[in-house]
Amino acid sequence: MAESRMVQEGVRVLHVSDMHCGHPFVQAHVDAALALARAQRWNAIVMSGDFSQRARVHEFEHAREMVARFREVAPVITVPGNHDTAWWHAPFGFGDFPRLHERYRQYICGDTEPTVQVNGVTMVGLNSSWGTNPESLTWYPRDWRVKGGLTDAQLRDAHTRLAAAPAHDLRLLVVHHNVVRGRLSRRWGLKQPHRVLDALTAMPVDVVCTGHDHEEQVELVGGRVLVSAANTLSSRMRGKRPSALNVIEASADRVTVQAWTYDRGAFVPGPISRSAAREPSVGRP
Ligand SMILES: [Fe+2]
Ligand SMILES: [Fe+2]
Repeated sequence: MAESRMVQEGVRVLHVSDMHCGHPFVQAHVDAALALARAQRWNAIVMSGDFSQRARVHEFEHAREMVARFREVAPVITVPGNHDTAWWHAPFGFGDFPRLHERYRQYICGDTEPTVQVNGVTMVGLNSSWGTNPESLTWYPRDWRVKGGLTDAQLRDAHTRLAAAPAHDLRLLVVHHNVVRGRLSRRWGLKQPHRVLDALTAMPVDVVCTGHDHEEQVELVGGRVLVSAANTLSSRMRGKRPSALNVIEASADRVTVQAWTYDRGAFVPGPISRSAAREPSVGRP
């Protein structure tokens, strides 16, 4: 009964990203996102990383307070971003690896790769933020501490968790780094991005939610998987464009992602939007 009502009304997920508590934090953007969260019906909320600016305690304390306000509205899934990663504890394959995300675990979520199944939505998180370790390290120093990575083992694990979702659930994968090339930045978020994209498009997933690039983007990959890349709620928008967040809406057979842009104190529907058919049989056991 509850499930059929969910399909009838549609599933709605709010996707926000990159608050960057610390110097770039913008209270007005977060307040506008919270106002939208409170004003409408949401099955879940995705927050795709970069909660802090430099993984400092006072930044995480602030971020915890902000995340708690979103949690009052709907269930929230989070993943760590590169700015939430204390890379200096384990540089270049050496050091104390559990400390990379010690503060993230303490203040934001104890699990860096959670599965949240709630209200007709299955959300699977992956941690792409490895600091300066081999999983994300490239030959280019400008990538260090910025680039992300996903191992084959992580991708297999996500596939398995998504395949175990209830039959009618909307299935979301949440990862901090952008999985498609940024339009303005021209940069890929992940090391070996084509290997990752091949794995993603073979997954039983409807939408891949990402942040990091600080520009909103909605793409269809592999002919069937939507990518919801969310802009930042901080002051660091790319190309001096307005802040934005994404709204994901699904019926039984379609899913749509639309970017809503910040305009005079509120987030309003913007021109970037894309839909895809849902394929209930894809990847199902
Ligand atoms: Fe960011
Ligand atoms: Fe980032």
